[in-house]
Amino acid sequence: MYEGRPAQSERFTPRTRPVVPPIHQSVTYFLDDEAYRDVQAGGLDEIWYGRFRNPTVDVAAEEVCRLEGADAAFMTSSGMGAIATTLLTLVGKGDRIVAANQVYGDTHDLLVRDLPSWGFDVARVDALDLDAWRSAIGDGRTRVAYVETLANPQLDLADLPAIAEIAHTAGAVLVVDNTFATPYSVQPLSLGADLVVHSATKFLNGHSDAIAGVVAGRSEQVREVQRRVITLGTCLDPHAAYLVWRGMQTFELRLSRSNATARQLAATLAARDDVVSVRHPSLPGYDRAEVAARVLRRDGEQIRAGAMVAFTVAGGDQRALTVMRKLETGCEATSLGGVETLVSAPFNSSHFSLTPAERRAARIDDGMIRVSCGVEPGELLVEDFLRALDSTG
Ligand SMILES: Cc1ncc(COP(=O)(O)O)c(C=O)c1O
Repeated sequence: MYEGRPAQSERFTPRTRPVVPPIHQSVTYFLDDEAYRDVQAGGLDEIWYGRFRNPTVDVAAEEVCRLEGADAAFMTSSGMGAIATTLLTLVGKGDRIVAANQVYGDTHDLLVRDLPSWGFDVARVDALDLDAWRSAIGDGRTRVAYVETLANPQLDLADLPAIAEIAHTAGAVLVVDNTFATPYSVQPLSLGADLVVHSATKFLNGHSDAIAGVVAGRSEQVREVQRRVITLGTCLDPHAAYLVWRGMQTFELRLSRSNATARQLAATLAARDDVVSVRHPSLPGYDRAEVAARVLRRDGEQIRAGAMVAFTVAGGDQRALTVMRKLETGCEATSLGGVETLVSAPFNSSHFSLTPAERRAARIDDGMIRVSCGVEPGELLVEDFLRALDSTG
């Protein structure tokens, strides 16, 4: 190490700056005495060590603030990193978390296996049953209500304003996983949520090439989560942060295309006799239509119904596997939110760890296929699904 080694940012002339944010791969930074004093006083503004903050990670977080309409955001190592760190920030031993039955499989595992074994009290409720939320939350010990906006995989839409009111009346905070719906369709903070978490691996990144998470909300609460990220070590790598930042530059473009495709696919599937049910908020028979009309953002008359579709084929899980494996444009793989259309069967992927009874409680049907619509031409994708269904009739 030689004295005066310049930091990357000092290499630009005073009159130029990069169009694209540099990837600040530096783990550590030179500090003057005043900065050391600020850090030691508990300040989080200085950039001094990568687990605390990093300029590239900050740039990605600022973009999430724009999309979610948040005051502050902090990136984490993964979506699970965001969820676990947020919950561990908000609750202490003996406190209660009330969470929806309809959540992502690993979130379910965290709620039913890990958190109770560490001394937290976790109650589960049907996301759609407001009376159940009220009676589970109203015991005076509840610190957190936890729900997915549009749930993975069955696309149950939570009544966020109502759940927020129930939580706030009992002195609890509402944490919302907005991964499936995305801020293109819903901004939970504007509907009463206190904190929003994401698997940024999905639609925010949009290219299936980085694992990341984020928590967004009001500055003080996000700062508390940031302090926990520091001690739990659930920070994001700057290179992954750059990929998420880059993905977010095309967020609206991608989501407008994939929302339109999802709408087209859902309508086509709903017209088939060999499809038992289709779940998508755009469909006339969607059982949460009243909530959708209140909480989903819209373009004129049309709600932004999201890029995910779930449908159940006649013939159960085995036929679901056969249908998926006949697809040529759609690709069978877990995960979602990329430019490519991904399909999966919850029973053997995102929700494999649930018992059959837990899957029933989460309203996951035998034969359900989850589709994450990509940006391919909609017609091409619809034809692909029709061909696959026809050939497995
Ligand atoms: C709704 C939802 N939340 C959280 C996660 C976890 O995200 P990650 O894989 O980035 O940890 C996922 C992953 O599929 C998810 O679908």
